[in-house]
Amino acid sequence: MGYAAPSSALHGKRILLGVTGSIAAYKSAVLARELQRRGAIVRVIMTPGAIEFIAPLTLSTLTDHPVYSDFTENKDSGEWTNHVDLGLWGDVFLVAPATANTLSAFVQGSCDNFLQAVHLSSRCPVCVAPAMDLDMFAHQATQSNLATLANRGVGIIEPDSGLLASGLEGKGRMLEPAAIADWLEIWFYERAPLKGKRVLLTAGPTQEPIDSVRFIGNHSSGKMGFALARALVQQGAEVHLISGPVQLNDPAGVASIRRVQTAEEMMIAARENFHTYDIAIATAAVADARPKQRSFTKLHRNELPEVIALEPTPDILAHWGEQKKAHQTVIGFALETDDGVASAMSKLKRKNLDFIVLNSTADRGAGFGTDTNQITIFDPNGKAHKFELKSKTEVAQDIVQHLLNYLTL
Ligand SMILES: Cc1cc2nc3c(=O)[nH]c(=O)nc-3n(C[C@H](O)[C@H](O)[C@H](O)COP(=O)(O)O)c2cc1C
Repeated sequence: MGYAAPSSALHGKRILLGVTGSIAAYKSAVLARELQRRGAIVRVIMTPGAIEFIAPLTLSTLTDHPVYSDFTENKDSGEWTNHVDLGLWGDVFLVAPATANTLSAFVQGSCDNFLQAVHLSSRCPVCVAPAMDLDMFAHQATQSNLATLANRGVGIIEPDSGLLASGLEGKGRMLEPAAIADWLEIWFYERAPLKGKRVLLTAGPTQEPIDSVRFIGNHSSGKMGFALARALVQQGAEVHLISGPVQLNDPAGVASIRRVQTAEEMMIAARENFHTYDIAIATAAVADARPKQRSFTKLHRNELPEVIALEPTPDILAHWGEQKKAHQTVIGFALETDDGVASAMSKLKRKNLDFIVLNSTADRGAGFGTDTNQITIFDPNGKAHKFELKSKTEVAQDIVQHLLNYLTL
C-alpha cells in the first residue's frame, strides 16, 4: 500500500504489530492501516486470546500478509513459523493492545505462545500500548510490571482516561490508533541516526545565461538530489537544499530550500555558513563554464555571436573540500559517460571528499532524467561499493546507509 507521506518517520519502517486479548483488539485493524498509510510495512502477530476478539482474516487482508499466531503453520506437514527470523525482521515490536497478562509474561520472560516467543527472540526495540480496565491498570502488579519493562528500555505508550468497555470510567483505554502512530513517529524520530545533523545538499542543473532567453544547461532533473533530501529527512537530518531550476515539488520535511539558477548563485548559497553544517552533499550538475559575456535582452538572429567564449564557473565541491573541518563530511557525485572510475577517484582526491558516488550514462537506466539509477560508491582508500540498478528512492536510501556506516566507523 504505497500511499505514505514520504516525510513520516514511519516511512519504510518494518513494524511487527503484536495484538493481544483485549477488547481494544478491534482497534488494531485501524492501527495497522494507519501505520501503513504512513509508509510502514506491517506484519501482525496475534495471541490465541486476541483471535477471540478480532479475526486474523481482517488483519491479514489489511496488511496483505498472513497473520502469525501459532508455532506451526501446517500441523499435518509439521511446517513451522520461524519466530527468530520474525524477531530479527522488525525495526520495532509494537504490542497494541497489550493485556495485563502479556505484560506480565514479558516481565517473566515466558514463552507460552508465539507472540511471547517473538518477544524473547526479537533484537529490535519493544513498545507496548497497555489496554485494560482501570483497576487492572492501577494494580500494583501491573504498575510494577510496566516499571520493570520501562527499566529494560521498553517504550510504554500510556493509556488514556475515559469510558472503558466495562462501563467504568478511568485510566486504561488504549490510545486511539492515530495517536499511537504519532507516538511511534516521535519515538522513531528521536532515535533517528541523523537527528541533530545539519545537511547542506545541492541538486538539479544550473543554467548559464547567454542572453535573457537562452542559456547553457544540462539534462539534470534533480530527481536524485530530491530523493536524497527525502531519505536524509527520514533519518532525522535537518536538510537545507539548494536547487537549480527543476520541475519538482519541494521534498516534504526539508528545513529550507533555495531555488537558484546559475553556478554563481549556487556557490553563494553553498558558501553561506558552510562551517555550521555537519554534512555537505553535492548532487547538483553544476555547469563547469559559462559565457564570458551575456546579454540582458534577447539577441536577435543576426546578433548572435559565431563563437561563445567561456570562462570557468566557481567550483562548489572544491570549495567545500578546502574549507572542510574535521567534524564535517563532504560527499560528491560524479556523472560520467564511460566507466568513470579513474575520473571519480581523481575527483575524490583532488576535492578532499569523504566519498564519491559514481553513476555512468553508459549503464542502462542510470543518470539524468530517469527514475532509476545505478551507482558505485568509492571510499578514499579506493574501495568500491557497487549497487544494482534501483529506483532513485532506493539508491538514496543506499547512499544514506553508506553515510551512516561511514559516520559510525
Ligand atoms: C470480554 C473480555 C475483555 C477483556 N479485555 C481485556 C483487556 O482489555 N485487557 C486485559 O488485560 N485483559 C482483558 N481480558 C482478559 C484477557 O483476555 C485474558 O487475560 C487473556 O488471557 C489474555 O491473553 P493474552 O495476553 O495472551 O492475549 C478480557 C477478557 C474478556 C473475556
